[in-house]
This record gives sequence, C-alpha cells and structure tokens, in this order.
Amino acid sequence: MTALTLSTAAASGLRADAIVVGVAKGAKGPVVAPGAEAVDKAYDGKLAGVLETLGASGAEGEVTKLPAPSGFKAPLVVAVGLGAVPEKDGSFGAEELRRAAGAAARALSGSKKAAFTLPLADAAAVGAVAEGALLGAYSFDVYKGNAPSDKAAKAKNGKAPLAEVALLGAKSRDRAHKAAADRAVAVAEELNRARDLINMPPNDLDPEAFAAVAQAAAKEHGIKVTVLDEKALAKGGYGGILGVGAGSAATPRLVQLSYTSSKAKKHLAFVGKGITYDSGGISLKPAGHNETMKCDMSGAAAVFAAVVAAARLGLEVNITGWLALAENMPSGSATRPGDVLRMYSGKTVEVLNTDAEGRLVLADALAKASEDKPDAIVDVATLTGAMMLALGNRTFGIMANDDTFRSAVHEAAEESGEPAWPMPLPSHLRKGMDSPTADIANMGERYGGGLVAGLFLKEFVGEGITWAHLDIAGPAFNEGGPFGYTPKGGTGTAVRTLVRLAELAASGDLG
Ligand code: BES
Ligand code: MN
Ligand code: ZN
Repeated sequence: MTALTLSTAAASGLRADAIVVGVAKGAKGPVVAPGAEAVDKAYDGKLAGVLETLGASGAEGEVTKLPAPSGFKAPLVVAVGLGAVPEKDGSFGAEELRRAAGAAARALSGSKKAAFTLPLADAAAVGAVAEGALLGAYSFDVYKGNAPSDKAAKAKNGKAPLAEVALLGAKSRDRAHKAAADRAVAVAEELNRARDLINMPPNDLDPEAFAAVAQAAAKEHGIKVTVLDEKALAKGGYGGILGVGAGSAATPRLVQLSYTSSKAKKHLAFVGKGITYDSGGISLKPAGHNETMKCDMSGAAAVFAAVVAAARLGLEVNITGWLALAENMPSGSATRPGDVLRMYSGKTVEVLNTDAEGRLVLADALAKASEDKPDAIVDVATLTGAMMLALGNRTFGIMANDDTFRSAVHEAAEESGEPAWPMPLPSHLRKGMDSPTADIANMGERYGGGLVAGLFLKEFVGEGITWAHLDIAGPAFNEGGPFGYTPKGGTGTAVRTLVRLAELAASGDLG
C-alpha cells in the first residue's frame, strides 16, 4: 500500500524520485498552479514557457516529464494537467485535484517516492490530493510474474505502484490537514481493497472465500460479523439467495457486518449484490457478455469497504452491512426458468430468466435488513445492462422510494467525486412483472429494464423504510484505459458515496 506523508520541507532538498507540479490551462497557454512557486523559481520563473515548448497545455490528465532544475535532489519533475484555470479568486475543485493527483501517481508507477506540490488551498484540497494519489497509485498484479522463470524479469522491469507520496505544504500539525489526510488514507485503502476483491478471478473468490475475507477484516476492526452458510440459509428460508446459488458447486453465503458506535443516533443499512461470477445460469450469457462477470460482486465489495472505512474513521453512526453472496452457474441442480422461489419475506417469485439473479439475492437481503428498522437502507448492485445503456460506463443510477433521500444520496455522490444520476420508479412498469403463478416474476418489460429491476427490489423493502438503490453496472468495472485516479478493471465505485452518507448520518445532516 502506498504510504502518505505530510511535509513542509522545500522541494529542492527532498530526496525523491520526482517532484509533481500542477499546470493549468490558461487563455494564453499553460500556467503553473499555486504550490509549485519554488519549483518555478528554480527554473528562473520559466517553467510555464518550458512546458509550452514541450507541447503541454495544462489539459486535464496531461502528464509532461522534464529534468528537475539544477540544485534539486530529485532528478525529475512531473507536470500534471489540472484543466482550466479556476474563475477569478476561485480555487481548483476537489475532483480536478483528485484526478490530477491520480494521473501523476499512475505516471510514476515503478518509482519509490514522489513529492506533490499541487495547490492546497484548504484541508479539503489536502484530502482530495491525498485520495487521488493513493487511488491512482493502485495496481493489481498479484497474478503476474510469479513463475520462477519470470522472477528475474519482474524484478528488472516490474512496475510496482508508487510507494510513497509526500504532500508538500500540508502540515501534519494542522489538525484539519491531518484529519483530511487520515480520512483519505482510510477511504483509499479500503476502496483499493474493494478493487482487489473485484479483480480477483472467480475461481479464487467464491462466496465462501469472500465471506472469509470479510470475517478477517471485521475481526481486525472491531466489527461484529455473522456468516450464514447454505445450511443456515435453508433453515432461515432465504429462497432467493439459495435459488441463485443452487447451480454452483460453491455454496452461497449471507454476511452481516455490524459496526456500532456508542454515540450513534442513526442506523444505516448497506446491502450489496455479491455474485462472485454471473454466467447467467440456465439463461446462459453468450460469449462476449461473460468475460468480465467476476465484477458482479462489486456492490458487496463496496458495502464491505464502506463499513470497514466507517469503523476505521470511528464514525458516530451504526451501520449494518449485508453481503448477499452467490455464484450464478448452470448445472443439473440449477434453478430453471419457470421455477418458483419462496423468498425470505414469504413472497413467491417466478424465475423467468435466471440471468436476472441480482434482484433475487438482494430481495432476501433487503427483507432481512428491514427487520432492524434502520433509518435508511441503501443497496448497491451491478444490476442491469439497461442502466449501462442509459447512463454509460462512468455514471451510476440512483432510484429511491423517497425523493428527498434520493437527492441526498445524489449530493453525497457528487461531493465524493462519483458521477451519478437520479432515475425514476414509474409504477406503471410494475404490472409487467405480474406472474400467472407467483406473487411476482423476476422479469418485466424490456424497455426501462433498470427501473423494472428497481421496482422489483422496492417490493422487498420493509413498510415505511427509506430506501435507495444504486445500479452501478456501468461504472463498476473499467474495460477501457485508466483515467484520472480510475484504473483499468474494478473501480470501487460507490464506496465513497456510502462513506459520505455514513458521515452525514453521523453528523445529523442526513434528514
Ligand atoms: N450482472 C448483470 C448486469 C450487468 C451487465 C452488470 C453488464 C455489469 C455489466 C445482471 O445480472 C444481468 O444479467 N441482468 C440482465 C437482466 C435481464 C435478464 C432482465 C440484463 O441486464 O440483461
Ligand atoms: Mn445476470
Ligand atoms: Zn448479475
């Protein structure tokens, strides 16, 4: 894990592999951002001109490397684009800073230490740069270069993540700076752990293995944990989770994580879809649609990471995390299209398509979570391809049974740097799920498939409980190239929104 230090040392004397400076896009060319004045001075005030000569413009995410000025202990300067110069008297936004820090950290993989001189106008900026750098430095390579014949090659040209980030100008004695940096470390480390879980191949991360990881982490952080295995699930009547897991040799689990604070006034429940692999089941997905389906536990990974981060931050709120874990596979014991499942809530569901499995495991977890009568439930799920079609692959959809709460979740996402958008739950779509045989079918109209799934879930939320549903199918897994602080593969989306919601609930600012 990348280490973070706060430092008031001068850039020139720092023993580091690189000094990171910010460069913004001005009307007449690149402009050196605040924080890098001393570095600019060492170039005789000509850094902007040098960068322009090198072709830099200050555009977001642009990285330009140049030799450090003479007299500097570090050999390299890395100029990272921040995008447009802020409006008069304004400062750079948190998300601009996160993305720039992330792009710089990515460009420095393979290096040991980098000193960041990005603009730190306030404690929020300290937190943003720290978070961006730690998230950008992420890499997943535990499955690479382990063959004995590969070892030497790996040692020579391996690109380990940037090992140490020093924030210049952030003061460890300033309580606000220190708190912002500590928060960034806890959130980024847990978010990166969620990414690891998402990136783990499904032959190594089945429901049992995921539950074991959760159990170990819970123990480490004083979180109470209960794991229901397939026998306990059968005894408890969890027909949804069992029905989805029925085709797999790997048995399903329901994990309950309870973080409690003696000062809590609110109780939140987070519910995560944890399909460790989604083949589609008997309604098998065709090739081309199943290669990345190890990411179908991203919701559970986000819930897990958020609960652990909340515990590490000691937030004054009670949080129950529910991980609904199953592997969706076809086999002689698999649930068939046409089967009827009796769910935990007692309702029956006709399974018309075994690939609409997420809503089945979530339905059981939502009904169970409702028994505690939490102040609000938020579920997170890679639920529908339809949501991906609607919002693209960087934005998640927010549905809710309460307009005010949906807005609060949207605001929390925005503040966290997670693109999200509110979606409706039109009641006319409910009748498409009418079943001749059971209380409801797990499929409805094709158009608005993301909203249909949301309406299905709504039926399993306890009476009078405030609830929101995040469909993260788009942004959960980045199949394109890395950008900003987002790597290829598992992204850890929704972790920061959940942590922000927990903070708001703790401070009494969440309704
Ligand atoms: N896990 C998928 C949704 C998904 C698609 C996530 C693409 C990430 C990327 C989900 O279980 C699924 O298969 N949904 C079906 C539902 C349909 C059968 C009603 C879908 O969206 O096609
Ligand atoms: Mn599916
Ligand atoms: Zn799925």
